[in-house]
Amino acid sequence: MEWNNNIVGRLKWSDSIVNRSEKESVAKQIAAKVKDGDVIGVGSGSTVYVTLFAIADKIKAEYLTIEVIPSSMEISLACIQLGIPQTSLLNKKPDWTFDGADEVDKECNLIKGRGGALFKEKLLIRNSAETYILVDSSKYVNRLGEKFPVPVEVFPSALSYVENELSILGAENVELRMAKGKDGPVFTENGNLLLDARFLRIDNNLEERIKAITGVIESGLFIGYNVQVIS
Ligand code: A5P
Repeated sequence: MEWNNNIVGRLKWSDSIVNRSEKESVAKQIAAKVKDGDVIGVGSGSTVYVTLFAIADKIKAEYLTIEVIPSSMEISLACIQLGIPQTSLLNKKPDWTFDGADEVDKECNLIKGRGGALFKEKLLIRNSAETYILVDSSKYVNRLGEKFPVPVEVFPSALSYVENELSILGAENVELRMAKGKDGPVFTENGNLLLDARFLRIDNNLEERIKAITGVIESGLFIGYNVQVIS
């Protein structure tokens, strides 16, 4: 039975989409890679959202059957809206994954997680033989941390401990991420909190060291991952 109302169908991206034309250009490149039968891991963020529209057009034009594994509620809702079938990592392994990023350096190391979906995004990338990171020109940096802090997903009662440990690791400033559409902090899809930690220097082992703090679920550092950056 179908719902009579259409709240999902009416949804729009929550903010204005910056650099939209650049995002639409990379979206076309990704849509061109979609083949019948693919199981595709889908990250989060506005670039991914724009790309889903290009993929939905291709599915309709070529009568393709594909499934996607979304990394967030935001992307799951967009897939429902666009009629793109979904599955989960419990059922299927992705043939490939695409995602966005907040910063990319020359070695294709990334900062991700402005959208708060970093844990599932990392899980999808780890489960995929191929990952494409879609970026517009604003995402390239000379060194990670140049523009964005490192998002760290934290089990709620570990908040103060993790803040302290991040400072010991060299974080200059650590902020609890506050929500815009509700009072109080952002809760991730996993019911955790987000600390945004600003580091002046990000070494190749910082991702491991952050992950080793008890209470840290995951960080938004992606250093040395097998990804292909597309712009
Ligand atoms: C989501 O948690 C993030 O990792 C996004 O992939 C990242 O913030 C890029 O978002 P935009 O495509 O909106 O710039």
